[in-house]
Parts: sequence; C-alpha cells; structure tokens
Amino acid sequence: NKLSIIGVPMDLGQTRRGVDMGPSAIRYAGVIERIENIGYSVEDKGNIEIALAERVHSDENTNLKNLKAVADASERLAQTVSDVITNKRFPLVLGGDHSIAIGTLAGVSRHYKNLGVIWYDAHGDLNTADTSPSGNIHGMPLAASIGIGDDALTRIGGYTPKVKPENIVIIGARSLDEGEKELIKEKGIKVYTMHEIDRMGMTKVMEETILYLRDKTDGVHLSLDLDGLDPHDAPGVGTPVIGGISYRESHLAMEMLAESQLITSAEFVEVNPILDERNKTATVAVALMGSLLGEKLV
Ligand code: ARG
Ligand code: MN
Ligand code: MN
Ligand code: MN
Repeated sequence: NKLSIIGVPMDLGQTRRGVDMGPSAIRYAGVIERIENIGYSVEDKGNIEIALAERVHSDENTNLKNLKAVADASERLAQTVSDVITNKRFPLVLGGDHSIAIGTLAGVSRHYKNLGVIWYDAHGDLNTADTSPSGNIHGMPLAASIGIGDDALTRIGGYTPKVKPENIVIIGARSLDEGEKELIKEKGIKVYTMHEIDRMGMTKVMEETILYLRDKTDGVHLSLDLDGLDPHDAPGVGTPVIGGISYRESHLAMEMLAESQLITSAEFVEVNPILDERNKTATVAVALMGSLLGEKLV
C-alpha cells in the first residue's frame, strides 16, 4: 500500500485569499502520520509550483480569470499525478481551490479507459465562460473534464474528454447555476442533491453510487470539496452554502467507499485556513481521508 501526497497551493481559480495555504494547513493537521498509521507507505511530493496571485495579470480577451496561469499549473499537476500512478502509488492531492481538479483528472484519466468520478460538493462546478456568474475557474472543472468549455482547460494533457458524463456522480449539491442545471439534464449526470440525502439517507445514497459506478468503471476518482459539508462542520471554505452534509454523514460516506475498494485516487480541495476556525476544516479533511483510506474505530 503506497500513497503519494501532492500539494497544490492554487488560489487563482477564485478571488478570496488564503486557499493557497490549504496544503500547509492539511499537512499541519497531521495527514502523513494519520495515513502512515493505517499502514501506508507515504511519500510527500511537496507542492506544485503555482504563480503568485499578485504577479498574474488576467487576459482581457477572456472572462476566465487567470486562465493561462491556471492552465499552466494544471499541466504540471497532470504530469505529477500521472507519474505517481505509473509508479503504482495512490495519488492524494491537497488543494488549493477546485480548479485543480482539471489537472488531477488529466493526470488520472490517461490511466483508465472508463474513469468514474464522485464529485462531493455543494456546487456542480459545471460552468463555462458563457454560463459562469463569476468567471472563477473553480466553478468549471467538471465541465472542462467532460470536454465542455475553453480549449485551454479541456485540452490539458493533450486530450479530451477525461470523463464521460454517465460515469459521474455528484453528491451534496445545493447551489447550482441555471446553465449547470441544463447541462446536468442534457448530459444525464447523476446527482444526489441535499434533498435526496435527507430523504434516502447517506447509506442508501452511497449504496446506489457504488452500484452505479462499480460495473461500468475501471477506476474511480473522489473529488471532495470541503464546502460539500455543512459550514458548521467545515467553516474554512471560500464559498460556503448552508444546509450541507454533516460530519457524521461524510464519515459514513468515506467508510462505505473504503469498504467498496472502488477509489483509485482522491483530492480534497477548498480548505482555506484564513477563513477557518483554529484549523478545523483541515482537521476534518484529514479525518475524512483517514476513513476513506480504511481507518477503523476499533
Ligand atoms: N457556481 C459558482 C461559480 O461558478 C460557485 C462555484 C464554487 N465552486 C467551488 N469549487 N467552490 O462561481
Ligand atoms: Mn498564491
Ligand atoms: Mn463547492
Ligand atoms: Mn467545487
């Protein structure tokens, strides 16, 4: 059992300061020791180089903020993630804002014919330059990964698409823009909103998710945005939305994924220590990583 940690101090996919310190906050919360104690041999590959926000100038020809700098970082991340998988290690990527999923998926997907993706998030992150209310690329990575959006984002790693819409499950959605709702319907993306989680319970949601992905995929990536959790449990995020998934429900979801042995790569994103309360959100992230990777209570 070998695992490699990749930090991505990315803050260029949105406009709030501090999310670039997410990887440090997660390391400070003890991620390496936690995972070593489960029995993994852990390697920390350090951080991907990200341009300083103060030195990046947005291109006036696009409403996508920091497009070139985000795309450049995505290429570097994709290469690193791909190398980790080639070396038969589990890639665990620490964000950074959610735009990093573009690079992570570009690196992961070249190793699978039918990659599945679980998108654990309050948001769909299915916007494009045309539908985005903000121009923030962290609201676009899932669209880019199914091949929709600016070429500079969809073609990272030199190929597109990374994921088929029917291989995606979104869990925890409660803030979707109009264009995102349309895309979900048009592409037939499976979504468990907070309504379904309340109504069915997390156990049933995860049972269905695992069944849905098990037979048609040869690997499954977990992309977990901490804002999928309720802000009460994960306050250190840039775009909190009330009424989210609880800490307990999230542990249950991670434990069921561990049991399923379905997950082949993971990323935990949007941890922002400036907005946090005494590193609570990074601590929650590390606890969830523990459950995902097979930690047992007794
Ligand atoms: N839908 C909004 C937007 O496009 C919010 C996206 C939030 N995404 C995130 N990864 N936190 O700007
Ligand atoms: Mn920065
Ligand atoms: Mn989100
Ligand atoms: Mn997100």
